[in-house]
Amino acid sequence: MTRTIRGPHLTRLLGNWHGLPGRRGRMPDYAALAGSVRGLLADGRLPLGVRLPAERELADALRISRTTVSAAYRLLRESGHLTSRRGAGSWTTLPGGFRVAGGGLWEHSDEPDVLNLVHAALAAPPQLLEAAKAAAGQLTRYAGGPGYHPAGIGELRDAVAATYTRRGLPTSAEQIMVTNGVQHALDLVLRLLAPPGAGVLVESPTYPNSLSACIARGARVTTHGVDPATGWDDEQLLGAVRQTRPRLAYLIADFHNPTGHLMPTRLRERLAATAHVAGVDVVVDEAYADLPLTDVEVPPPVAAFDRHARVLSIGGMSKPYWGGLRVGWVRAAAPVVQRLAAVRVGVDLASPVLDQLVAMQLLARTDEIIPLRRAQLRSQRDALVGALRDQLPQWRFVVPEGGLALWVELDAPVSSALARSAEELGVRVAAGPRFGADGTLERFLRLPYTLAAADLVEAVRRLAAARSDLDRGWRPQPATVLVA
Ligand SMILES: Cc1ncc(COP(=O)(O)O)c(C=O)c1O
Repeated sequence: MTRTIRGPHLTRLLGNWHGLPGRRGRMPDYAALAGSVRGLLADGRLPLGVRLPAERELADALRISRTTVSAAYRLLRESGHLTSRRGAGSWTTLPGGFRVAGGGLWEHSDEPDVLNLVHAALAAPPQLLEAAKAAAGQLTRYAGGPGYHPAGIGELRDAVAATYTRRGLPTSAEQIMVTNGVQHALDLVLRLLAPPGAGVLVESPTYPNSLSACIARGARVTTHGVDPATGWDDEQLLGAVRQTRPRLAYLIADFHNPTGHLMPTRLRERLAATAHVAGVDVVVDEAYADLPLTDVEVPPPVAAFDRHARVLSIGGMSKPYWGGLRVGWVRAAAPVVQRLAAVRVGVDLASPVLDQLVAMQLLARTDEIIPLRRAQLRSQRDALVGALRDQLPQWRFVVPEGGLALWVELDAPVSSALARSAEELGVRVAAGPRFGADGTLERFLRLPYTLAAADLVEAVRRLAAARSDLDRGWRPQPATVLVA
């Protein structure tokens, strides 16, 4: 089913379209309107493949003449941003027929001279070594058996269930399946619930490796735009769920990667209800749920508002503790967990017992470890924010209340060129387009604050130099080490 954006919604997205500060002198209204629609598409705020309002409807909503809208649509068709069929409507497209990016975010990180801002991930906490030693001492309790636990060892399932109960979602061990990280959790859920060709709704921007997972499973990806300044638009998101009826919606509700937004309680509630009515399963990625950096109150998980087993939560140890552990989980209804475990047997059988015991040890020390992680992240975030305001004041961003990264709006759509130019100066960054559909998000850059403060300040100094290189007409080499 095709997705339609109604006149009032598009009007809201367009905002002050004919009074923009950058508006060029006497540009006619139709050209300004077309330019604003192109800008929304390029920034991922207006998804691809969406049917725009009929000309008259948009003219009424914007209080302009239908002729102006007609001319704007014609301009958009000419530039390849709109495809129309008589009697059926007009859909958003990109010139050249770009498709959703399938390349994930990964690259080698063993070059000592490169300041690597591609990963939003912290080094291990100092407690890791003690946790590993204590876990090794406990291995004998399992060594007498075969060691295969497709849903995870019981004590870790218990410990993870207790974290959900503490967050306001009563949970038992049977509702938890331990996985090898959050990425693995998503892949297993896709294998179980989204057969090849099934529709999967994701946010734009989103976490690149989730896009890779969807594409690897042959999903038909559609997007919902998350506004860099304001986050989700309730009506648009719920409308997208109702209208496209994807098989699955994948959302990052807690300190969204990359924008950092926290989904409000009201939308969590409505999302669970809408998913039920539309018959859509929702996978909520909670990788960052433990990392608020202010005293913002983190709402209960989306699944706490779900009465019909439509919402699955995925989370893990990687962001609050350490990615090298490769321990994550799925929280779902007990029968779904059993089916996931059956799927998993055909993939990797089970997670390593030793790593699960290490995770247990770290979870037992949550109250000691997490406050220190938050304090560290807060001061690194503030160092990054300070350096950006000082050196690149023309870049804009919302300081996130949690998570690991800033989503920065650049002063021009130069993110990929800037990433290449920065690479020459020893800074590696993930350009905006990696977080969305090909050809969009060129105006954005994700900057994690997971390096030490001094490194972040130096990275910003080099980024500022790379930015002025671009202005001086320097052309980066096409070859890049960043692996998609
Ligand atoms: C939203 C989100 N989900 C999942 C992951 C991957 O987590 P894991 O390392 O546990 O597989 C990341 C890592 O960046 C992420 O940002």
